[in-house]
Amino acid sequence: MQGEKILVVDDERGMTEFLGIVLRKEGFQVTALNDPKEALEKVKADAFDVAIVDIKMAGMDGIQLLGGLKKIDPGLPVIVMTAYASQQTAIDAVNLGAFQYLIKNAKNDEIKMAVRNAIEMRKVRAENSLLKRELKRKHEEKIIIGSSDEMMAVYKMLDKVADTDATILITGESGTGKELIAKEVHYRSGRANGPFVSINCGAIPRDLLESNLFGHVKGSFTGAVKDAQGLMTVAEGGSFFLDEVGEMPLATQVKLLRALQEREIIPVGGTQTIKIDCRLIAATNSDLEREVAEGRFRADLFFRLNVIPLKLPSLRQRREDIPLLVDHFIKRQGERGANKTVSKEAMDQLLKYDWPGNVRELENVIERALILDENNVVGPEDLPEKVRFQQSSRGSLIIDSPNMTLEELEKEYILKVLNHTHWQKKRASEILGINPSTLYRKLLAYGFEKGGPSDLPASDESRAA
Ligand SMILES: Nc1ncnc2c1ncn2[C@@H]1O[C@H](COP(=O)(O)OP(=O)(O)OP(=O)(O)O)[C@@H](O)[C@H]1O
Ligand SMILES: [Mg+2]
Repeated sequence: MQGEKILVVDDERGMTEFLGIVLRKEGFQVTALNDPKEALEKVKADAFDVAIVDIKMAGMDGIQLLGGLKKIDPGLPVIVMTAYASQQTAIDAVNLGAFQYLIKNAKNDEIKMAVRNAIEMRKVRAENSLLKRELKRKHEEKIIIGSSDEMMAVYKMLDKVADTDATILITGESGTGKELIAKEVHYRSGRANGPFVSINCGAIPRDLLESNLFGHVKGSFTGAVKDAQGLMTVAEGGSFFLDEVGEMPLATQVKLLRALQEREIIPVGGTQTIKIDCRLIAATNSDLEREVAEGRFRADLFFRLNVIPLKLPSLRQRREDIPLLVDHFIKRQGERGANKTVSKEAMDQLLKYDWPGNVRELENVIERALILDENNVVGPEDLPEKVRFQQSSRGSLIIDSPNMTLEELEKEYILKVLNHTHWQKKRASEILGINPSTLYRKLLAYGFEKGGPSDLPASDESRAA
């Protein structure tokens, strides 16, 4: 027996008595009222799970009451009762937010079903909004740190564009906070209650990318055993984050452009178009203008994406923010960071280092230092060698160890190339002569990409590993 609370309002005593009997038998707690004015007071004083309201009453009609109830408890499902199915007011009521309408001579089972559905819907909605609040809260913990002029310019731009529906292209080196900013845009927009869906174009094998974006119909390729929804439709009402958009193959670029122009997509292997309603935020660490000039990225798509460009500064361009970030990362470690400080000598080294992996690299260095540190003051000895010795991030490859395995050598070379291309993976994979997805797999295995153990994009550590 559920015991959910049902409010029944009808000026006909016979009707409230009848509904009372049917619903109490189901184990619901029923409050029956014959005066609609009383209903508003009751809902103010007590929380109900469902309300059943007659559409035509003396004193106040059901539509008015519906409005009043929704004002007090917007999530309350209201079922309206009407004498005839075709009554326009019943349809209006549903348009005004009633959960459903029931005909007065509905069968007992129909009444019970309507009430159960309403309870179910309320539960799902409550869980959903809880989940969303949870997500939002988690995001809010990830505050954006920085008070340099460069970051101030970013905040100013954010203020201007976040709450619009304009497409944004976020550019910046690896680890500068592109994803963090993309989420900030979403949570500051009118779409914050909708989903934030993201896809990493560099991480998904080419042939699966389109099906992930647009969905597919059953049988369109081997393995497509049933219809699948694309992520662009999943993002309905929210924002769609297209990460590493520079890695997208040309053929897919054509389809994406079409989707953005028409605001509709066609699933792989399908013929029917599906409307999409999501705000697009794209990010890249490659120089898209050069990609366009060299024919690797479509100019028309670039202009579509680049409506509002948001360029994130590298960490070495805003060194003054380093102490703030260090402080932030120490505090975020909770227990482990409690009462810990950084010695002046160590801070000097952190300030001088080049940070090719930007904020992510700094975050990892601090996390590691806090683990290594034993006396509550992070000193130079707790920092990785490359920070201590200010090794250039773009040095040449020197094989100084004759007993290096081929695998170690490969890893070192890959990291050199990545440092050279400022972690533009597409460029790097071209220099290396391998597929971007192969490169991505290798980086995952090395732990340099999300999902793997975190480490730093630095060549000296690879030798030690
Ligand atoms: N300004 C900032 N303040 C606080 N934390 C930051 C800032 N910028 C980045 N971070 C943190 O650094 C890490 C990397 O950020 P993010 O993943 O957004 O970078 P990215 O530009 O998307 O990197 P990549 O190009 O490698 O995908 C995250 O843990 C993020 O929270
Ligand atoms: Mg990213």
